[in-house]
Amino acid sequence: MQLSRLLTLTILLGGGLLVGWVWLGGSAPRNATPGTASAALLQPGNASLVARGADIYARACANCHGANLEGQAGWRGDRKLAPPHDESGHTWHHPDKLLFEMVKEGTIRMGGSMPGFKGMLTDEDIIAVLSYIKSRWPARVREAHDAINARAGNG
Ligand code: HEC
Repeated sequence: MQLSRLLTLTILLGGGLLVGWVWLGGSAPRNATPGTASAALLQPGNASLVARGADIYARACANCHGANLEGQAGWRGDRKLAPPHDESGHTWHHPDKLLFEMVKEGTIRMGGSMPGFKGMLTDEDIIAVLSYIKSRWPARVREAHDAINARAGNG
């Protein structure tokens, strides 16, 4: 009798602590850690955001940039053709903020030819699709991109 009451109490207390831990952010995303990647816009490690981005990519970007991020043949030296978004292109040479702006405002103002997506995609959609693109790069390219962000005061 005594023992079973103690056991019930332990289970209740344990369950309460677990719920409290989850509620207080024990499972918060890694990027929420202050002083690390908190200023970076893209979150390639955020699985739900990346899944949403993959969906947006397929609908809004793949017809030009390729279903597998491969770009259009002959893109080098021709700004009318969509470049690849994989590691063979130069998307990863640009910091988060510039990538975000290129997608939101388009690149026509910058001498390119891509229309802006601001009427079609929300800011969060744009971050999601760029996070998906970054999630597809090999680790060494993601790290190089983190360093580019840090130099741009953006990561
Ligand atoms: C109508 C075709 C088309 C669609 C659709 C399109 N793009 Fe582009 N995109 C281009 C072209 C062409 C360029 C090259 C323009 C330039 O050099 O400025 C480009 C360039 C870019 C760049 C700059 C790459 C670099 O290396 O400088 C980014 C980033 C980009 N696109 C992202 C996206 C995303 C994300 C989507 C989907 C939301 C998208 N694009 C949809 C045609 C397209």
